[in-house]
Amino acid sequence: MYSKSVEDYLEAIYNIILRKGYARTKDISMELNIRSPSVTEMLKKLDDMDLVNYERYSGVTLTPRGERIARSVKMRHDTIRKLLRIIMVSDKTAERDACKIEHEISPETIDQLTKFVRFVESAPIYPKWLEHFKEFCKTGKYICDHRDKD
Ligand code: FE2
Repeated sequence: MYSKSVEDYLEAIYNIILRKGYARTKDISMELNIRSPSVTEMLKKLDDMDLVNYERYSGVTLTPRGERIARSVKMRHDTIRKLLRIIMVSDKTAERDACKIEHEISPETIDQLTKFVRFVESAPIYPKWLEHFKEFCKTGKYICDHRDKD
């Protein structure tokens, strides 16, 4: 189990590399909103932990172990964000909250959430109960669909 801050760095580096192919201190500083000297200090620590390869002038890459952790954090992040979007949380809040919850969530819960999101996303027809939920969010009322009783 790694600290929230270690996970955030690895996730940020992974995302930057996905976006532009390489990551430099300045990119990480901008992505995490942390001053460059602090980023440099942390990159040295991550290098000591064998999670990144840090060369002062050529930038940062993830080691296989660092990449494994980064992928796992990103997977948690994406699942939580999708779940929050399904229950109609706004994009911005879903993104922000996913980044908080991703560090604390248990393996059992994220497994079930992953299945749930997949279940909703790959449902052969748009789930009726989800439409009902949307209506409930808007009006506070249940849709009484008499056809359900037949
Ligand atoms: Fe995140």
